[in-house]
Amino acid sequence: MIDDQIICMDMGGAGTNTAGSGTLCLGIESSCDETSAAIVDSNRNILSHIIYSQIPQHQKYGGVVPELAARAHILAIDEVIGTALERAGKTIDDIDVIAATAGPGLIGGVLVGWMAATGIAQSTGKPLVAVNHLEGHALVPRLMATSAVDAATPAAVEFPYLLMLASGGHCQILLVRGVGQYELIGQTLDDSAGEAFDKVSKMLGLGYPGGPIVDARARCGNPDAFRFPRPLCDKPGCDFSFSGIKTAARTFLDRNPAPHSDEFINDFCAAFQAAVVDCIVNRLEHAMADARVRAAAPKFLVVAGGVAKNSAIRAAMEKLAAGHNMTFAAPPMNLCTDNGAMIAWAGLENYRLGRVVTSPIAPRPRWPLTEL
Ligand code: KG4
Ligand code: ZN
Repeated sequence: MIDDQIICMDMGGAGTNTAGSGTLCLGIESSCDETSAAIVDSNRNILSHIIYSQIPQHQKYGGVVPELAARAHILAIDEVIGTALERAGKTIDDIDVIAATAGPGLIGGVLVGWMAATGIAQSTGKPLVAVNHLEGHALVPRLMATSAVDAATPAAVEFPYLLMLASGGHCQILLVRGVGQYELIGQTLDDSAGEAFDKVSKMLGLGYPGGPIVDARARCGNPDAFRFPRPLCDKPGCDFSFSGIKTAARTFLDRNPAPHSDEFINDFCAAFQAAVVDCIVNRLEHAMADARVRAAAPKFLVVAGGVAKNSAIRAAMEKLAAGHNMTFAAPPMNLCTDNGAMIAWAGLENYRLGRVVTSPIAPRPRWPLTEL
């Protein structure tokens, strides 16, 4: 059953050297509803990338059920790691370093991946890196990033960069000065952007995860058909608030109950998404000024995390970057949502700096980037 649901992602990476040369890392991710493993080398080649998505198991509950997720990770982890090695044409002996998510995330799942990685490291004597899941998202644009306009051109993302990190659990603007060096410029005061997409999708009865569904619907709708609020956009600072948009959406639906036509749903999604995009652009404009005050001159404007898949957000950020003489960069679609390749890459970046586990550590459900 697991075998049928394992997806072997397109390989690649920005690497130009012979695949498999340099330091080889096995990366393991299990913090939410994807069990994933990848083999990545220090020359930016992805030798294999396996994702077992549990979305079908959680769909009927309208969101991730932590206990089911933990159990599904246990059932899948060995096969996912084994398949990653097999697809890369490697054995565990060929691997130089093991990296796994050690938090933040659903702790049952994190424990499964972390214990698997610890077991492999201890039995083989290989070095182990404890990767912060958010750092995986934050650094993966350096493994491979493309401009939204010119998808064929990999952009070499260099420090410092201004990062919009938007996932199901987080929504933050960070100044990334280096590996392990994150300055928090702004963050959501309530819901994350991904949560807002998921909740609006649920309200409309469109399913889970909501982001890709709302994104696809919005492409067919008129963003000016309705007007949702843009919370905090008239205020200074770089923080977000998405709960106001969500409440406005709820109130609007209460006044306009189902059944809804396709046209209504498409317009609703487009208008909601336009409000989210405007908030992101407004806050990023403030963040650019903030970065200047911090005496940083980031050349790259980067988006990462599951919400980075959103077509309208990518397009708006591309335009924003161009207007400020910055280069826009985003991971390719399969490296935006949770994946093992980003953990392997963050593992390599930390390994290069000697940041390996030297004594047992406890995985963390909460682990802010600023505590690295
Ligand atoms: O990074 P991720 O895979 O998991 C966390 O670490 O949270 O992000 C998942 C989130 C979900 O909320 C999902 O709805 C959202 O990313 N997402 C999107 C899109 N694709 C995924 N949100 C907006 N537009 C999309 N195309
Ligand atoms: Zn994530």
